[in-house]
Amino acid sequence: MKMNIAILPGDGIGPEIVSQALQVTEAVCKKFGHDLTYKHALVGACAIEQTGNPYPDETHELCMQSDAVLFGAIGDPKYDNNPSAKVRPEQGLLGMRKKLGLYANIRPVTTFETLIHKSPLRTDIVTGTDLMCIRELTGGIYFGRPQGRSEDNNVAFDSCVYSREEIKRIVELAYKYARQRKKKVTIVDKANVLCTSRLWREVAQEIEKQNPDITTEYMFVDNAAMQLIQWPNRFDVIVTENMFGDILTDEASVITGSLGMLPSASIGLHTSVFEPIHGSYPQAAGKDIANPIATILSAALMFEYAFGLMDEGRVIRTAVDESIKAGVVTEDIASGDKSYKTSEVGKWIKEYILNK
Ligand SMILES: NC(=O)c1ccc[n+]([C@@H]2O[C@H](COP(=O)([O-])OP(=O)(O)OC[C@H]3O[C@@H](n4cnc5c(N)ncnc54)[C@H](O)[C@@H]3O)[C@@H](O)[C@H]2O)c1
Repeated sequence: MKMNIAILPGDGIGPEIVSQALQVTEAVCKKFGHDLTYKHALVGACAIEQTGNPYPDETHELCMQSDAVLFGAIGDPKYDNNPSAKVRPEQGLLGMRKKLGLYANIRPVTTFETLIHKSPLRTDIVTGTDLMCIRELTGGIYFGRPQGRSEDNNVAFDSCVYSREEIKRIVELAYKYARQRKKKVTIVDKANVLCTSRLWREVAQEIEKQNPDITTEYMFVDNAAMQLIQWPNRFDVIVTENMFGDILTDEASVITGSLGMLPSASIGLHTSVFEPIHGSYPQAAGKDIANPIATILSAALMFEYAFGLMDEGRVIRTAVDESIKAGVVTEDIASGDKSYKTSEVGKWIKEYILNK
């Protein structure tokens, strides 16, 4: 198959982890005989430094022309510590999501047997966790207008806005994935307080009626936050709005033991984007210590979701599993004193794929 992908490493550890995922992608293409072409482009703080725009037009053009986007992370302390900066790296990420119409962020959360002891949660709680969070990505409070400050600068406000159509398309997606999994959907909202959540529930109840073979449950976000760490096994597909999803998926990452382990796929109207759920981890930038697994597993999702190549995805997941079993892991998930560099982990996984 011909595969034409855009590579957007971004900031901080982005370039280091993306180059590992790219090596692994190349290895899989070599093994399965796919014709891979790719081009790099700027996004985030590095794009601001070079062009003044966190999501330059050339980057958007490249994304639109590609079959898939492999993304690292954006963010730089220079902007985090300057709340009054007018142009911010995050605008690049939000702009990309909006312009590519990426309305759904899919985050599988599974445990690795050999890593269960790394979870701060008890082994009996996390064992067997296999859930999928579907987060709405282009609506809600992160995009709602009006947003701003009062004239006297003493009051600030954000707006949470959702349309029936925005809710419908993502809830329907949740049912589609639940049907391929354990046939259960949990709709997370705050319908006891928020008007937007009541619309979510209303729309979801209509879709529930059309899917009688799927078990549906409704859960307030505060309860979901608690149940997710008390009883993660009870969930199959969780679908929720943008901000709730942002927070719950970071919480869910502790189940796997490290934020450096969780991949995601953002899908929507145009090209899909595959990215780790973590940020640019600036403290580790350039040190070759960040865990590349979330990005490598994002490449696995890319094969599956963008190209329908399930065997290729499986090969990557197996290689990751084997690297963990062999103890070839970065310091965040290492058990004893011995840990490996980002590049060593990537190389091990690449070679495992090529030699098996
Ligand atoms: N999608 C994105 O690009 C994205 C997401 C979240 C945060 N950010 C940005 O990233 C910057 C840093 O934010 P933050 O510190 O809140 O979040 P972060 O995810 O970068 O890091 C939080 C902590 O998680 C751990 N961690 C994250 N990635 C890891 C990896 N690959 N390997 C090992 N450990 C890892 C580290 O302990 C780190 O201190 C900020 O500028 C923020 O805006 C970007």
